[in-house]
Amino acid sequence: MKSLKQLAVSTAALGVALGLSFAAQAEMMIGFSQIGSESGWRTSETASIKAEAEKRGIDLKFSDAQQKQENQIKAVRSFIAQGVDGILLAPVVETGWDQVLQEAKDAGIPVVLVDRGVAADESLYLTKVASDFVVEGALAAAWLAAETNGVCDVVELQGTVGSSAANDRKEGFESVVGNFPGINIIRSQSGDFTRSGGKEVMESFLKAEDGGKNICAVYAHNDDMALGAVQAIKEAGLNPGDDILIVSIDAVPDIFKAMADGDTNATIELNPHLGGPSFDAIAAAKEGKEVPKWIKANGPLYLPDTAAEEYKMRSK
Ligand code: AHR
Repeated sequence: MKSLKQLAVSTAALGVALGLSFAAQAEMMIGFSQIGSESGWRTSETASIKAEAEKRGIDLKFSDAQQKQENQIKAVRSFIAQGVDGILLAPVVETGWDQVLQEAKDAGIPVVLVDRGVAADESLYLTKVASDFVVEGALAAAWLAAETNGVCDVVELQGTVGSSAANDRKEGFESVVGNFPGINIIRSQSGDFTRSGGKEVMESFLKAEDGGKNICAVYAHNDDMALGAVQAIKEAGLNPGDDILIVSIDAVPDIFKAMADGDTNATIELNPHLGGPSFDAIAAAKEGKEVPKWIKANGPLYLPDTAAEEYKMRSK
């Protein structure tokens, strides 16, 4: 099973060697339109990007969209009006960005997509600093297929409807389980990437599936929903991690605690430290340097064997 870790691209790929000094960046004013704070991972990402800006002396204008695309569009327009040097945009959903991205481009302001992608022409943004969500979904499915010898009725807790994270994690998972006729996704619904959403949807799955007797595994698009599912499964009188296997994505500290306690079985790391490569990309563009269109940040799959140790390190 450990060899699955080798399938994931090293997070070291995140450190793009663009050859820029922090001194050149200290003059920059950058706008950051964040989605909200729906999950533990999102909170870490916000903290990491703010800390990275501070370390580099960047004047970061932060805007929390409270999960609403219209708030993000307003924020981007306000950053354009302020004449920022660049914009970091974590797009809540994939579609509906063309107009505002065009406005930023017309103003000569580079936009970096952080964490999630958009369905827009790539000439409208500078780069995307993000994991390959399709690979994450495929990795989760590969783990499940190996663990269950290719026979399992799975319920899926999807992320936010219309987000690239949910769309691509679903696609990646299905692309692998499609090769196993004994693996069926028997129920699939959005829990909106929140712990409460995961719990609520899992409760309805358990009710619909004879108290959970028909469910072999949960595939949760993020750890928070998996942790909500753990609670729902316990309240239904079953043992999560044993009666029902659980695989999820993010690798937040709480999931390592759950894995160490035997409540969940695997997680795939989503690196939250996306500020450094994003700021480097904007600085590089300002200097007329070539920036790749996708700076990938995929992480490995973790199993219970290292969970206690990982929890200790990550919860400091
Ligand atoms: O876009 C990444 C996803 O968004 C994370 O997996 C999830 O926790 C967050 O809300």
